[in-house]
Amino acid sequence: MADSNYETYCDPAIARYYQQIHQIQGAESAILDELREDLARARLLDIGVGGGRTTQYFAPVVADYVGIDYSEVMIQGCRQRFPSYRFERMDGRDLGQFCDRSFDFVLFSFNGLDYVGQSDRLQMLQEIHRVLRPGGYFCFSSHNLQGLELAFNAVQQVSWNPLTTYINLVMWLCLRLKNRGITAARLKTMETAIVRDESHNFRLAHYYIRPQHQLQQLHPWFNTIRVFAWQTGRELSTPQDLATHTAQWLYYLCQP
Ligand SMILES: C[S@@+](CC[C@H](N)C(=O)[O-])C[C@H]1O[C@@H](n2cnc3c(N)ncnc32)[C@H](O)[C@@H]1O
Repeated sequence: MADSNYETYCDPAIARYYQQIHQIQGAESAILDELREDLARARLLDIGVGGGRTTQYFAPVVADYVGIDYSEVMIQGCRQRFPSYRFERMDGRDLGQFCDRSFDFVLFSFNGLDYVGQSDRLQMLQEIHRVLRPGGYFCFSSHNLQGLELAFNAVQQVSWNPLTTYINLVMWLCLRLKNRGITAARLKTMETAIVRDESHNFRLAHYYIRPQHQLQQLHPWFNTIRVFAWQTGRELSTPQDLATHTAQWLYYLCQP
């Protein structure tokens, strides 16, 4: 999974796609607004910086900014686009170039953590915890398995508009064909799943996780965790909200 995702992210066409995305996501905007004062003194590490979408919002408001990505083509694009900021080619699984407790804020936006398997994901969380100072923040998003249940359910694809129903059913069929072992019934029993969804024409395998399970996974390193819906930026504050929210991905704001 990790190797084929890496190849996809090294494709210049994919890099160009990320270079032309500019919009800040609702949850990122809510978190940025809330922490703006703290960020003015912060050293920020932006992991999986891609085309630099988050650079334009976060770099100008922090004291020091470093963007990293394991894809050389992404890093070259960022260096050209933002010559006054520092960008390094580096894999989030090995942050050995950075000292322990050297960042106040670590950002891994737009589900960048979801392109490696389980053991690499845990390794990445451990590395991020190591470079984060006590009291600092780790902000990331991850695909929501509860949202995926809707996409696998054929009945959910039916709409009042016949054309929409047709398109939805074609996408549903592609999803089933690309993920033959997974059904809506089976997903109900799973806490995490590796799924090829329609983004980038099914070229990426994504890690999906239930929000409650994500909290458990984070607990060895982070004990204060807040969850936000990616689009609206609304905080999900009750267990009921967490267990039922079907946004395609969610943001987690964590403190060690
Ligand atoms: C979905 S893109 C998001 C790009 C950018 N953060 C944004 O919000 O537009 C995910 C990015 O994470 C990078 N990435 C994935 N796994 C990584 C890893 N293990 N180490 C460093 N970068 C990684 C990919 O190369 C890609 O640029």
